[in-house]
Amino acid sequence: MNCVFRNALPFVTMGRVVKGFGRGSKELGIPTANFSEDVVEHLPKELDCGIYCGWAKVDSGPVYKMVMSIGWNPYYKNTKKSIETHILHEFKKDFYGSMLKVAILAYLRPEKNFSSLEELITAIKSDIQAADKLLEQPEYQIFKDNSFFQDKNGQNNKYINGHKT
Ligand SMILES: Cc1cc2nc3c(=O)[nH]c(=O)nc-3n(C[C@H](O)[C@H](O)[C@H](O)COP(=O)(O)O)c2cc1C
Repeated sequence: MNCVFRNALPFVTMGRVVKGFGRGSKELGIPTANFSEDVVEHLPKELDCGIYCGWAKVDSGPVYKMVMSIGWNPYYKNTKKSIETHILHEFKKDFYGSMLKVAILAYLRPEKNFSSLEELITAIKSDIQAADKLLEQPEYQIFKDNSFFQDKNGQNNKYINGHKT
């Protein structure tokens, strides 16, 4: 089944990047950008917790592939729901405070608990590989050029769920 239209997908949102626990870079070697709480609170209820992929753009930079975790990070037993985006690009420095735009297109898997850090890292690396391949398909490529990502018009796009820039 083509999962583009699963649940509330495709879904686009934007918000500032805030500091998470910092484990993504340090412990996992897989840096993630966390959205502020207001973005988490405004997710549609149909968008289940789980691992997703799509496109992301930081400030006025290029649009890159991304993988995203929405939920409670069962491995770390977080008490707050978070949205964490790993962008398939090596950034030279942190971008806390930047504006992050994402188009969430496909559901990859549910969040899981793991018995070791290595297993969590292996699962995320496999998500990255799956996303890299999936997003090459034409039905996902078209979203890269969506007006949402264009700097001039993007902020008025009807999909933005009320977040001010
Ligand atoms: C693609 C992806 C998949 C993830 N899958 C899981 C998962 O299955 N279980 C889990 O507990 N955390 C998962 N995480 C969340 C990581 O545990 C989290 O990014 C890490 O704790 C870093 O968070 P921090 O930067 O806020 O410290 C995933 C993260 C990403 C980017």
